[in-house]
Amino acid sequence: MRLIHTVAELRGALADARETAFVPTMGNLHSGHISLIDLARRHGHPIVSSIFVNPLQFGAGEDFNRYPRTLEADCAQLEAAGCDIVFAPDANEMYPELQTFSVQPPLANELCGAFRPGHFQGVATVVLKLFNMVQPRYAAFGKKDYQQLFILKGMVRQFNLPIIMLEGETGRAEDGLALSSRNGFLSETERAEAPRLYRLLREAAQRIETGNTRFTDIEQTAGDELNRNGWRVDYIAVRSQTTLLSPEPGEQDLVILAAAHLGRTRLIDNIECCPA
Ligand code: PAJ
Repeated sequence: MRLIHTVAELRGALADARETAFVPTMGNLHSGHISLIDLARRHGHPIVSSIFVNPLQFGAGEDFNRYPRTLEADCAQLEAAGCDIVFAPDANEMYPELQTFSVQPPLANELCGAFRPGHFQGVATVVLKLFNMVQPRYAAFGKKDYQQLFILKGMVRQFNLPIIMLEGETGRAEDGLALSSRNGFLSETERAEAPRLYRLLREAAQRIETGNTRFTDIEQTAGDELNRNGWRVDYIAVRSQTTLLSPEPGEQDLVILAAAHLGRTRLIDNIECCPA
């Protein structure tokens, strides 16, 4: 496995590659990330993963500075998973210009975007740059970050990028908590409380799947339950899988998305469901 820090070296290494499969990350890898490497390996070759904590997608007062940076351990995991190239540029390599030309995706101000202004502009911008640097045939993303995946699929479609998007299921701990680099911020008590988020999403999905169409009630019940247990809820929302907007009556493919703070840590999760 090669560790590469510059775009020039990356382009050299990939000069003859036509079927590259790419997995962008911010590092501090866990088995959710590694499952995307496995998914990528089933489609293309070589496997390229990037590790870059993207300043553009963090708001003022968010956790950019304390975001865990664990390059050595990440490389060991990637190598064991069969990754061929790790691309780890520094901020100057990624953003050499004084002013950044940025992408403004639709839905960027909805859901998580309403609470993290600029976040999805930052994500779309860095991913478009990474796509141009790596020029992959395949790119793998996790459904854990459902809105991110939705926005990036829209970017690929609308900018006619010749990339096939691969979608990985959410990797979870045994108690249901979605794996996340941010889980390491949780105290022992918070870690014990954290699985409640997915438990409530499962209950909400079950209510929808057994015929309840009062989505506002369902959102409210889950939100109240979190607030009662010391969380600060950003949103719980039943949405259409196809538009990420509020579902039309009778719509079948739904997703419940949630974001809530537990202490200093913001957790997100989601569950897909189909009404009865
Ligand atoms: P990061 O949070 O490191 O996630 C990298 C990829 O791993 C994303 O596609 C994310 O959805 C996926 N992922 C995270 N947790 C997962 C889990 N529990 N199960 C399955 N997949 C999971 O997402 C980002 O980085 C950044 O926004 C990025 C796309 C790299 C742009 O900077």
